[in-house]
Amino acid sequence: MADTETDAGVDPAFRRDVLAGLEMRPRAIPARWFYDLRGSELFEEITELPEYYPTRIERSILDEQSAAIGDAIGGGQAVVEFGSGSSAKTPLLLNAISPAAYVPIDISGEFLRESADALSADFPDLPVHPVEADFTHPVPLPAAIADLPKLGFFPGSTIGNFTPPHAVDFLRAMKETLGTGAMLLIGMDRIKDEDVLVRAYDDAAGVTAAFNLNLLERIDRELDGDIPLDAFRHKAVWNDMLARIEMHIEAVRDVEFSVAGRDFAMAEGETIHTENSHKYGPRDARILLRAGGWTVTREWTDEAGQFALLLAEARPEVTAP
Ligand code: AVI
Repeated sequence: MADTETDAGVDPAFRRDVLAGLEMRPRAIPARWFYDLRGSELFEEITELPEYYPTRIERSILDEQSAAIGDAIGGGQAVVEFGSGSSAKTPLLLNAISPAAYVPIDISGEFLRESADALSADFPDLPVHPVEADFTHPVPLPAAIADLPKLGFFPGSTIGNFTPPHAVDFLRAMKETLGTGAMLLIGMDRIKDEDVLVRAYDDAAGVTAAFNLNLLERIDRELDGDIPLDAFRHKAVWNDMLARIEMHIEAVRDVEFSVAGRDFAMAEGETIHTENSHKYGPRDARILLRAGGWTVTREWTDEAGQFALLLAEARPEVTAP
């Protein structure tokens, strides 16, 4: 990370989002700012926690139902992965189908190239074309895959981190990126027992708490803040009306602090909303995808129906009825 003591090292978008988020009521800072180096490491740790079931279950679906997934998808596609990160689940998909090319899209160029190189080493015959871009907007794809059928891959239930209107915009952007006729394989977390959900976001070892509170450390470090960390705690709640887990950072006492030269005061019990993780029942998921231009054709879940992998098609838009 660049020198953060000087303005030159500060990401202006981070500064803008943090200051605006601390001014607004209720206070809220977008979850994308969790992922500095430490935040990304903590997220990797979260995925290994006993309470955090989504990663484990999604992998087991990809693994145990690979034959059915392979049959449904066929082969010969360019697999386009949105927010590929470490491409951790990609080999499971690539082994299930016979892809013609792999296009990982990620905003972090360095991470992208490292993971693309690692994947190429494991799949030496597969052409890999990394694209550094913000995948929430339509992305021009490499000319080399122009004539191949496309399969979008968006695992991890990251779609749940978008509010439904933004999820629909994003699904439409994916459709524009991939084109009519493309397929999409997407992971979505299901609504389940509140206890199970809350524990997944408030684990006994405190890793999710550290992940959430790391945002304050990042603000102090990069935006010249003096937020006293001991004045805050991690809070995860299930909002049943909006069908989502919300993560907040809650003040445990009245507290004053400054960030980038601006003063703020929070009363005991006030929170900064840092993340939403929406959960979808089977029909909710299909309707969300439909609203985003994708028609679900198949779905696979674990035996208990805790997590779903959905296969959808970008069909031409038809009007009424
Ligand atoms: C990245 N995303 C799908 C995770 C989730 O479950 O919403 C982020 C996360 N936040 C806390 N734990 C995991």
